[in-house]
Parts: sequence; structure tokens; C-alpha cells
Amino acid sequence: MLSIIKSMTLNGIEGVIVDVQVDVSAGIPCWEVVGLPDVSIKEARERVRTAIKNSGYEFPSRRIVINLSPATIKKEGTNFDLPIAIAVLIASGIIKCFDSKDIIFLGELGLDGVINPVRGVLAMCIEAKKLGFRFVIVPRLNAKEASIVEGISIIPVETLSQTIAFLNKKIIINPEKNNIPDINKQNYQNDMDFSEVRGQKNIKRALEVAASGGHNCLLIGSPGCGKTMMAKRLTTILPKLSFDEALEVTKIHSIAGLVDNNVPFIVNRPFIAPHHTISKTSLVGGGRIPKPGDISLAHYGVLFLDELPEFEKSKIEILRSPLEDGKISISRVNSTVTYPCKFMLVASMNPCPCGYYGSEKECRCSEKEIQRYLSKISGPILDRIDIQVEVSSVKFDAFSSSNEEESSDNIRDRVSRARKIQLKRYKNEGIFSNSELTPKLIEKYCKLNKECKVLIEKIFRKMNLSARAYSRILRVSRTIADMNGCVNIEKEHLLEAIQYRNLDKKYK
Ligand SMILES: Nc1ncnc2c1ncn2[C@@H]1O[C@H](COP(=O)(O)OP(=O)(O)O)[C@@H](O)[C@H]1O
Ligand SMILES: [Mg+2]
Ligand SMILES: [Zn+2]
Repeated sequence: MLSIIKSMTLNGIEGVIVDVQVDVSAGIPCWEVVGLPDVSIKEARERVRTAIKNSGYEFPSRRIVINLSPATIKKEGTNFDLPIAIAVLIASGIIKCFDSKDIIFLGELGLDGVINPVRGVLAMCIEAKKLGFRFVIVPRLNAKEASIVEGISIIPVETLSQTIAFLNKKIIINPEKNNIPDINKQNYQNDMDFSEVRGQKNIKRALEVAASGGHNCLLIGSPGCGKTMMAKRLTTILPKLSFDEALEVTKIHSIAGLVDNNVPFIVNRPFIAPHHTISKTSLVGGGRIPKPGDISLAHYGVLFLDELPEFEKSKIEILRSPLEDGKISISRVNSTVTYPCKFMLVASMNPCPCGYYGSEKECRCSEKEIQRYLSKISGPILDRIDIQVEVSSVKFDAFSSSNEEESSDNIRDRVSRARKIQLKRYKNEGIFSNSELTPKLIEKYCKLNKECKVLIEKIFRKMNLSARAYSRILRVSRTIADMNGCVNIEKEHLLEAIQYRNLDKKYK
């Protein structure tokens, strides 16, 4: 007998429908899976067999053929356990026929028959809703996350025997209450705020410029001067996530298995700080059963590379195209997966190997050692960092002064205003912020008046800057002009932007 149950898998961050067809027939007992399954699905046999047995039912000792269709999509993971078990139980008559075409089944089986949570439930439920399904049977521990999706009934299940009883209409399971988050009512209270950072007016300003134009930035300074502290607070001055953005961020975190079912909706911009020993797979994503990496977890937020020169050059260099494209494609044996990764890159570094060059403490490094240290950060990545600033430690006065420091909320208001100007200006250009301006668009949107042209030429000669530095200075000038509500880039904007090119003087 053939039975067909609907389930889903993931393609990148989207859910895809899969038919689980199970045929149980007379013949030598065997278990065969066809339709581009991964090893994890071949392993489903033991879980399904033992779970059925331990739930008090007999596992048919007959010929079982499982087809996962469409065969063109690679299926991975453990969320076919439950649909396979249900199909087997229907084929062997334990579950009475029910109308299965309206229901999606997702869930991993434990050997004891418990239904374990799976990754990516939100993305799959969104797609199920789009396709017009009425019910999704999900592991209880995924139910809150699933119930973010409106207009589809989420049935939470805990064990296989409970699911059987439900399908045989022996028990009622109430659908999970809808849990549609109101993005405006979410508590944005971060446990961090810029007002905790004393002094550092210039650096705060540089970070506000970075946030306003979406520019990547690099903080250079001695240990303890506050680089990490300030980088961590950058997400608190970025505009708030819209509902759709928050949904996308949550989807990605859910696929990575990182969503807390009790607080399943992520409302704050992510701040992701990988250690320099991170593997390339964890950084960019991939693996046997593909998962988004840190760059995708940082989508719409900040990726912080603390102590940049500690990262192997090759790890930094794989960030080049994701930084350019806002997405990452990972090639696999039979397919490619693509994950979004629009993040702001913030990096920090010491000015020299000992860390104290240019500070009050004595630096023991030779000129050569410093050069070698600086050359560790690759040119191509520096090309994508518009803002570089040198941070010095705050003086005692700043700590002891009773001056109130400005709150993140205040700064964020200004940042949001500057972003709105950019969104409007670029609405037909396919970009969102000044940091994305290509050389062609720079020509169109960053025109300089005569005075500015003369000035920039003079500075270029004096500082011996590269042509690449030129576009970066113009992009940042455009942002500063937007922050001031100016239509044209003026001399003062240019002069400020030039200050954010600290490394150009040392490293070309
Ligand atoms: N401007 C500042 N205002 C308040 N505290 C600061 C400031 N700068 C540094 N600190 C304190 O010093 C600690 C070390 O700073 P940190 O950000 O780790 O430095 P870095 O990353 O540059 O080595 C912080 O946790 C914070 O307590
Ligand atoms: Mg630090
Ligand atoms: Zn040194």
C-alpha cells in the first residue's frame, strides 16, 4: 500500500514542499530510500523503527520503499522522521485514513518516540502558509516559533503515540495560539547603551557616520582603550529593524538552530563576534547539512572581527565577495545553497604587535615589525572599509566629569534620518545606502564644486593617497552631507571624511 504525506525541507532560507511517499508491500523485508536523500535520511530507518516499536506498535517486517519527491532537491536533516513514520503507520493500518493533503508534518524522532525540535521551522511554516496548507504538525519545542505565522494552524506534538491518537481522532490537540509579534511594541531596551561610553567624542562621531551610511569601519588603538566596548554598542544606534527584516533575521537564526522557543522572534539587530580561531565553515556557512555561518547570522546587523590581524588572511579574504554581494553561495556536491549576509563589518586592531605604538606607554616594536603587522590585514579587505579611526584611551577627566553622555536613542534618531534621505535618493538605483555607491553612481551623486575639487587634489598630493581612497572619501563625504541635510557635498564634509583614512598614510 502506498501512502503520501507532505513535509518540507529548506533551500537556502526558503521552505520547499516535499512529498514523502511510502510503499509497504509483501516481499523480503527491506528499507530503501530514493529521491536524493542525504545520509541523515538513510539513518532515519533506525529512528523510525525503534520509535514505532517503543511507542507500542509493530513495525511492519515487509518491503518498505520511500520516495522523497521532487527528486531534484537535495533533502537533508532529520525532519522527515515524523512524516516517514506516519506514512509507514498508515500503510500498515495503524493510523486510519485521514485527509492528509492539507497537513504538513515536521519532526525528528527520538528512539523513545519523543518528537524532537528541528531547524528552520519558521521558514517552512511561512512557505506552507503561502502554498495554502491549513495545518502544520510541529514538535512542541518549535511551536512558539511556528506560531509567528498567521493564518495557518500549528499543532504541537510531543510524542509519536500522541500524534497517532490525534490523527485517529482519539484526542484533541489545541492549535498553538498565534504569536504574531508587534514589532513596535517589542522591548528594544538593549542592555547596552552609548551613554555608558565616557568621552571619545570623535570616535562616537565616526561610528555615527558609519551607521548613517552603512560604512564598514576599522578601529585602531591600544588594548583597553574601549574598541570592543564601542563596537558592541553600534547596533544600538542603527535604525530599528522593520517587521520583514526581523522575520528574515529570525528565519536565518532558526535555520542555524539558534532560536530560543520561548522568545522566538529576534527584534534587535544581531551583533556577531567570531573568535579568530573560527573555522571557515562556521564563518561563511556550509557543512554536511548546510547551515548559515556567522556572516549570515550577522545579516542586517554587525559582524565584529576583534583583533583583525589575528585572523588568517584566507579567512578574511573569503569575506570579499559576501561584502560586495550581500549574499553567499556555497557549492555542494549536487547543489548550491545561498544565504543572505548584508552586514556592517566592524574590525578592531592594535596599532602594532606590542599594542602601544602612539600611546602613552612605550612601544617596543621596530619599524619593520610594525610594517609586517600592518601588512597582515589584506589590501582587498581594507578596500571595503570606508572608515578607519585611531582610538586613544579616555583621559581621567572624561571619567570623572559629571557630563551626561548622549543616549543611543538620540543618536539613532539622527542616523535614521540620514538613512531615510539615502533610501529616497537611491530608490531607483537598487541600493540602500552610501556605502554601496559604485564608481559610476559616485559620479552621479557625489559631484564636487570647484573649491572642493581643488582641495581634494591638494590633499591627495600631500597625503599621497591611492585612487581607491578617493571613492571611499567621496562616499563618506556624501554620508556626512546627508547627516547635515545638505544637498551638495561641501568643503567641511570632505575635510571630515579625510580624517577617517588613518591607515592610508601607513599602508597602501
Ligand atoms: N570611554 C570609556 N568609557 C567607559 N569605560 C571605558 C571606556 N573605555 C574603556 N572603558 C572600560 O575599559 C574596558 C576595556 O575596554 P575594551 O573595549 O575591552 O578595550 P579594547 O577592546 O580597546 O581593548 C571596558 O570594558 C570598559 O569598562
Ligand atoms: Mg578588545
Ligand atoms: Zn609596539
